[in-house]
Amino acid sequence: SYPAAVRLFEVGARDGLQNEKQEVPTAIKVELIERLVEAGVTAIETGSFVSPKWVPQMADTDKVMAEITRKSGVVYSVLTPNMTGYEMARASGATEIEVFSGASEAFSQKNINCTIDESLDRFAPVMEAAKQDGIPVRASVSCALGSPFKGEVILPAKVADVSKKLYDMGCYEVSIADTIGVGTPFKTREVLEAVANVIPLEVMGVHFHDTYGQALANLSAALQMGIARLDSSVAGLGGCPYAPGATGNVATEDVVYMLNGMGIETGIDLNKLVETAWFISGFLGRKPVSRVANAMKAK
Ligand code: HMG
Ligand code: MG
Repeated sequence: SYPAAVRLFEVGARDGLQNEKQEVPTAIKVELIERLVEAGVTAIETGSFVSPKWVPQMADTDKVMAEITRKSGVVYSVLTPNMTGYEMARASGATEIEVFSGASEAFSQKNINCTIDESLDRFAPVMEAAKQDGIPVRASVSCALGSPFKGEVILPAKVADVSKKLYDMGCYEVSIADTIGVGTPFKTREVLEAVANVIPLEVMGVHFHDTYGQALANLSAALQMGIARLDSSVAGLGGCPYAPGATGNVATEDVVYMLNGMGIETGIDLNKLVETAWFISGFLGRKPVSRVANAMKAK
């Protein structure tokens, strides 16, 4: 059955901006994060401590973390692929970190330069250190509904296997990601059910890219199962530089509009969120891709 309330995890400042061609100044990132929090966002990805050679757009994450005015009760999370990233995250005062692996071997090689098993080995000391430091760790499982690489088939059992390993390592949330937005509702349910067979539904989250316009429908399938942890990105920003064909995440304002209509609590002020979508899109020199941001602006 549907949850009464959800936790929205805002990924716009990380997944959203990591893929932008133009440089986004630290001050704009800081303003984006602060506006989102002002709109009611309580969990937000502020950046990644990854190699600046691999993802130059996130190279100023330490500055972003230093410059944001933090609000109590808000989770400021960063991606950390290894111990180097973890040390930087801890130094920056991140209140949560995220490890990321996936169900596609080809994507793992392209994205983090190692096999899926090797990525889990790299996370082991990160999990250990985070436990000692009292920093909660969330995990992301990429390519759960399809691989960006031709011919590679992703089995639900593989998604479940990686999810279970991450959960058993101590991750408090496992976010199942449709990196390239190819899923459809029945397929989504099949994969999510395979995962729900091996880890508790309460710790499962979903992270849908909207490449084929299926994200809201897939989200609805996840909600129907009772999943209450949703990733989304203001203005529908997003993509992964190492996943050919991936476009933006499901837009936070589209999700909030849908949930408001369903009577599912988000704690977010839709008007402020839409203003924020126009703010960041204005900086990027385009309109937000989301229907709701455009519909509400037109009024
Ligand atoms: P590597 O080259 O194999 O790493 O990259 P290495 O350990 O051999 O180190 C090479 C150099 O990188 C060294 O520097 C290290 O110090 C440095 P050098 O000696 O050459 O000057 N280095 C680092 N620097 C900063 N931060 C670090 C770090 N680690 C090593 N953490 C590595 C391996 C994982 C570092 C690299 O592949 C990488 O940074 N990948 C990140 C890719 C990424 O961020 N992708 C996007 C995020 S995932 C995503 O978007 C999907 C998601 O949204 C869910 C979904 O939609 O599917 C989450
Ligand atoms: Mg993503």
